[in-house]
Amino acid sequence: MRDPLIEAALEVRRNAHAPFSHFQVGAAIEDADGRIHTGCNVENSTYGLTLCAERLAVFKAISEGARQFRRIVVAADTETLTPPCGACRQILWEFAADIEVVLVNLTGKTETHRIKDLLPRAFDASFL
Ligand code: THU
Repeated sequence: MRDPLIEAALEVRRNAHAPFSHFQVGAAIEDADGRIHTGCNVENSTYGLTLCAERLAVFKAISEGARQFRRIVVAADTETLTPPCGACRQILWEFAADIEVVLVNLTGKTETHRIKDLLPRAFDASFL
């Protein structure tokens, strides 16, 4: 069955700006109102300023006023499904400690995880 969040992640992946790694990633996050916010990776010639698809999707959503999230889909063209990097896990934890993380590839293979399992013993504002 067609999942609009998966479709959105696959679609935005095509906009990836990845001239250095040639590794294209798309992400789509659904907020508590059912709105979908998308992001792709945007690389930079300094490398370190590269933004991952997941973080861009989260930051776009935050800037649109969303504060609660249900699910994020991460789309990449790998047989072993591509998980969010450590930095993106921290950002996801910060804004959505209970979020479902769905990984998908171009063949439609999926896997679902919880961010608390991907980032055990996370540091957050509760320690401050
Ligand atoms: N990348 C993402 O956008 N998300 C991930 O989950 C893994 C890595 C990007 C960063 C960089 O542009 C390229 O993929 C290779 O690391």
